[in-house]
Amino acid sequence: MSFPLHRPRRLRQSAAMRRLVAETRIHPNQLILPAFIKEGVSEPVAIESMPGVVQHTADTLKRAAAEAAELGVGGIMLFGVPAQRDATGSCSLDPEGVLNGAVRDVKGEVGDALVVMSDLCLDEFTDHGHCGVLREDGAVDNDATLEIYAQMGVAQAEAGADVLGPSGMMDGQVRVIREALDDAGHQDTAILAYAAKYSSAFYGPFRDAVDSALQGDRKTYQMDPANRTEAIHEVMLDLEEGADMVMVKPAMSYLDVLREVADLADVPVSAYQISGEYAMIEAAAAHGWIDRKASIVESVLSIRRAGADTVLTYWAAELARWIKEDSL
Ligand code: PBG
Repeated sequence: MSFPLHRPRRLRQSAAMRRLVAETRIHPNQLILPAFIKEGVSEPVAIESMPGVVQHTADTLKRAAAEAAELGVGGIMLFGVPAQRDATGSCSLDPEGVLNGAVRDVKGEVGDALVVMSDLCLDEFTDHGHCGVLREDGAVDNDATLEIYAQMGVAQAEAGADVLGPSGMMDGQVRVIREALDDAGHQDTAILAYAAKYSSAFYGPFRDAVDSALQGDRKTYQMDPANRTEAIHEVMLDLEEGADMVMVKPAMSYLDVLREVADLADVPVSAYQISGEYAMIEAAAAHGWIDRKASIVESVLSIRRAGADTVLTYWAAELARWIKEDSL
């Protein structure tokens, strides 16, 4: 018998063979495009730390959404950057506010061609930049925040969001939002729970993207990067509270967590490839240190392989175009 007996390289010898036996694929329908809209601007504003991503105007956002739908992207997750901020994030409840208005506009533009999702969190709307309202001692007040989240949920559903994405990591948020939606007759509005959301340094560029003036950090409500079993606990709680889908965030530094959540959850699992993950690849590619396209594809493929059914990525439309043109 010749040696080696086993030759795994047989299945790697041509592109056709590799394509045949590939276990994981990226389909545009599985991708969700996060998008920002800024109130009161007449031109899109570039985000310095996220080259290629902008704060949209109402018009350019509609165009980006239509384009994403055209490319077969599965969904769009909207973030609003309001002109006015206050201690309680009151603009988040205004039906004509920047985010609720954008949800209505985008839904009107794309209808059912794209799943329209809305970020449900206060950090973009508060002057202190925290994801909830503050107590007198400066701590984020969990239960007072929940009352506002419930109202935000109803406002976003009324604006036409198909899916709400509570991202503030307040305890009990999924339950209060679900109940408020049901009480208001929005039983068909789904919840994508940011179940295992870590307190990550890689959110840095996002703070630019939403002009956040955060003082301090989010360590009292977002998860400690050291913890794995706690992610399971968070996911179980959100499922119990009525989450339709759950998310792990960030993605690339948490692929182990993602795999465990995917093995355990009996609902679709999302992963969010966040701003810092985007910025790292763009920056290295801009220096010519890595191959941009190959790195983007590999990164998203790894997130899918780790167990994500859907991936939020700032490259969603570009990836969809590559897939459509069969140029992967
Ligand atoms: C909070 C929120 C954040 C992101 C999405 N929703 C920021 C944070 O928690 O600090 C980060 C997304 C990214 O970095 O791409 N509303």
